[in-house]
Amino acid sequence: MSDSRPNPAPARRGFIRIVGSSAVIAAAAPLLPACSAMPDAATEPWRLAGRGEDVRRRLLSWAILAPNPHNLQPWMVELPADGSIVLFADPTRTLPMTDPPSRQLTLGHGAFLELLSMAAAADGLRAEIEPFPAGEPGPERLDARPVARVRLLREGARPDPLFAQAGVRTTWKTPFAERAVGPEALAALVVAATRPGVVASGTQAPERVAALNDIMVRAWDIEQRTPRTWKESVDLTRVGAAEIARHRDGISLGGTMMEALRLAGQMTPEKAMDPGSSYFKAGLDRVRSWVPGTGTWLWLVTPAAGRVPQLEAGRAFLRLQLQAAALGLVTQPPSQVLQEYPEMRALQREFEARVGQREGEKVQMLVRVGHPTGQAVRSPRRALQDVVRG
Ligand SMILES: Cc1cc2nc3c(=O)[nH]c(=O)nc-3n(C[C@H](O)[C@H](O)[C@H](O)COP(=O)(O)O)c2cc1C
Repeated sequence: MSDSRPNPAPARRGFIRIVGSSAVIAAAAPLLPACSAMPDAATEPWRLAGRGEDVRRRLLSWAILAPNPHNLQPWMVELPADGSIVLFADPTRTLPMTDPPSRQLTLGHGAFLELLSMAAAADGLRAEIEPFPAGEPGPERLDARPVARVRLLREGARPDPLFAQAGVRTTWKTPFAERAVGPEALAALVVAATRPGVVASGTQAPERVAALNDIMVRAWDIEQRTPRTWKESVDLTRVGAAEIARHRDGISLGGTMMEALRLAGQMTPEKAMDPGSSYFKAGLDRVRSWVPGTGTWLWLVTPAAGRVPQLEAGRAFLRLQLQAAALGLVTQPPSQVLQEYPEMRALQREFEARVGQREGEKVQMLVRVGHPTGQAVRSPRRALQDVVRG
């Protein structure tokens, strides 16, 4: 049987030559996650959420869908015979360069606990969360002691309508549609993200928005131009379907164009670290492409430092993302300016002054909000059995 299609080999060589040119890579890179081919195996936990006979595993199948920095999924759980759930920080999943005190990782644990608690309520159970039951780690790093112990009680469950968005929630990593978010939506997001120990604020005032957009770009540039902090992201970048499916974590760059660039040798860690490469330039351009559609910012402040406020802020951030989903909006928390390493400190001070952070307070999350441009691409998750210890 003859095949009437043209011989693909020369065509593919030509394609690779074209996509290998820097102009094409730079133009295409910001669009790629939106057309990303996410391998089904990597997103299986989204489809399995809420299934299963064992109640703790059923609740955890939701919790592992929580937002978390760099999609590291820094959690580990034990299921002791007393029926509780004990949450730990996985010591192999840390961000020592961009998150030296593990503040952001702790926020991710907070989001995990909020989702767990909402899933429990939907199952008729009240999750009683005891943070740091064996003592609170200091400000330097998390340690081997549990982050929380969760007891599931039969009385007092209060189902939360926001939980309906748990399977829809997403972090939007590409430009928003250029359409304004209504002031009533901002007000609803502020309400959703305000909880005990967390104050949410927001702005749509053009001058403040422009200042925050500018800070977002400058903070990104600092991170990308500081080799050790940029390398941390590069090392967690998974290029192409095979790598994404193998790791099921990190920053996913999938889709036809990425596969082609990978085959052309354009997507290696060495290229990513080379300031003269198209890959490097695409990174710098990417954050700039977010500016035109960003007209709404929120930030979450805790009045105190410490680990419990970090958990509370993570819980508030999850609620903010769910409320955004309920309103048909999407969010992204560009966190660079909040990160605690020396090169960021001067810009961080400028940012803190801009949002009026007072002595003793900490802005834990900074979030841009907008309208999606299409269907969200699910981010990968590791399988639940890989998170349960023992
Ligand atoms: C503390 C924290 C910091 C984050 N920082 C960023 C960030 O700087 N840029 C970004 O695009 N997403 C950021 N995220 C979102 C994660 O990248 C996202 O949750 C993860 O990739 C999983 O994707 P999903 O939220 O769509 O499930 C952050 C999330 C948390 C909890």
